[in-house]
Amino acid sequence: MRRDILNWLEEYNSKLVDVHTAIENIKSGNRVVFEHACGEPKYLIDNLVENYKNLENVEIVHMVPMGSAKYCDEGMEKHFKHNGFFLGSNTKKAVHEGRADFTPSFFFEIPKLFRTKMPIDVVLVQVSKPDDFGYVSLGISVDYTKSACENAKIVIAQVNKYMPRTMGESFIHISDIDYIVEYDEPIYTLPRPNIGDVEMKIGKYCSTLIEDGDTLQLGIGAIPDAVLSFLDDKKDLGIHSEMFADGVIDLVKKGVITNKCKNLYKGKMVATFLMGTRELYDFVNDNPMVQMMPVDYVNNPCIIMQEDNLVSINSCVQVDLMGQVASESIGKNQISGVGGQVDFIRGASMAKNGRSIIAMPSTVKGKTSKIVACLDEGAAVTTSRNDVDYIVTEYGIAELKGKTLRQRSEALIRIAHPDFRDELIKAHNMKFNDELKI
Ligand code: COA
Repeated sequence: MRRDILNWLEEYNSKLVDVHTAIENIKSGNRVVFEHACGEPKYLIDNLVENYKNLENVEIVHMVPMGSAKYCDEGMEKHFKHNGFFLGSNTKKAVHEGRADFTPSFFFEIPKLFRTKMPIDVVLVQVSKPDDFGYVSLGISVDYTKSACENAKIVIAQVNKYMPRTMGESFIHISDIDYIVEYDEPIYTLPRPNIGDVEMKIGKYCSTLIEDGDTLQLGIGAIPDAVLSFLDDKKDLGIHSEMFADGVIDLVKKGVITNKCKNLYKGKMVATFLMGTRELYDFVNDNPMVQMMPVDYVNNPCIIMQEDNLVSINSCVQVDLMGQVASESIGKNQISGVGGQVDFIRGASMAKNGRSIIAMPSTVKGKTSKIVACLDEGAAVTTSRNDVDYIVTEYGIAELKGKTLRQRSEALIRIAHPDFRDELIKAHNMKFNDELKI
């Protein structure tokens, strides 16, 4: 339909439907993509699930899952086949039991998949109220959602006053939407994490690898927030990150994050999705300091490499003594996905003075070492030993890039939990015919 940015209200009203009318457009055998993470359109998804009796074999594709994910409940597999790019506590059981699937993909390549190998029938999105020109914002989840809107045969949008109007490439015009459902409900939030002693120690070590003027990428959780809590005395940090949460806003308010030294979007923070509290969502609403961009821009290693001094900080499940990093599966069991980890590790590696950090507690609740002689059988290697750079635990920093297998093994044993060092030393000495003592 022709886009009329001045007289769009009539078109908007003509597309307004109740949720049942909108959801009836989803047919058996369709591939349906959801806006993901805290941007998930709850009302639309709940209604799709309620309509399960009329549907068979609907493929549901998305990344970070929120809510109860009832489409993954036992007995639903005839109606809905979930296909995740990233799993969560609510979807991994269905994958482990063979009732759902997982598709490996770098986050930055998902938009390309939607243009090529994974055509979409319907996309369900959640957007802000329209502005004076008929544009709505995809708000806190622009990532693959924008591409899904551009490539789906049918776009169904929940217009929700709680979705912030973020700036950047987050806008779509109502002429690009097929069905509009108005429904206001608070969007998903992520509480600030509890930061324990171990995370604080890790955060302190990571902060020693961060210099004035660096641009940061941070993952989700307690470790990124712990790192941020040690950066008060840094100057002119920047953000170019797949996502960020409330901890970043604290440093903006303190004048530590100014984005002054960035090469791209100087003075602005760049992200592709956001997860945090309502305070974060209010901060980004109508705020030109925050540019929300599609993931094939933000996470593209060829873009990331243009930011000098890019430091990426992510986490993992296991690291072996060669520096192979497993971040998305525990043995054979997929628990999450690669997300943007490798996008940023590769981008940082190619950036001038770029550094990448994998930061993790040395053990799982004190019982199992995360540093292991060999990864668990069946584990997927997320970050290869060729890509890995720094590994940080509460016992210190292991710098692996440019180091031999023997040196890596020694450096990693030095930052392993003391309770597990003896068995790691034994494995090291056998492999390298060495007499390492720590
Ligand atoms: N052996 C057995 N279980 C392990 C384990 C190990 N080595 N390491 C972690 N686990 C278990 C934990 O006990 C926990 O189990 P629970 O859910 O039953 O409590 C679960 O795995 C998740 O571990 P946790 O340490 O709580 O995870 P996290 O929330 O800090 O996330 C990753 C860590 C690695 C899963 C997560 O960072 C990830 O998916 N990374 C890849 C994607 C990425 O880096 N994206 C870029 C940034 S957004």
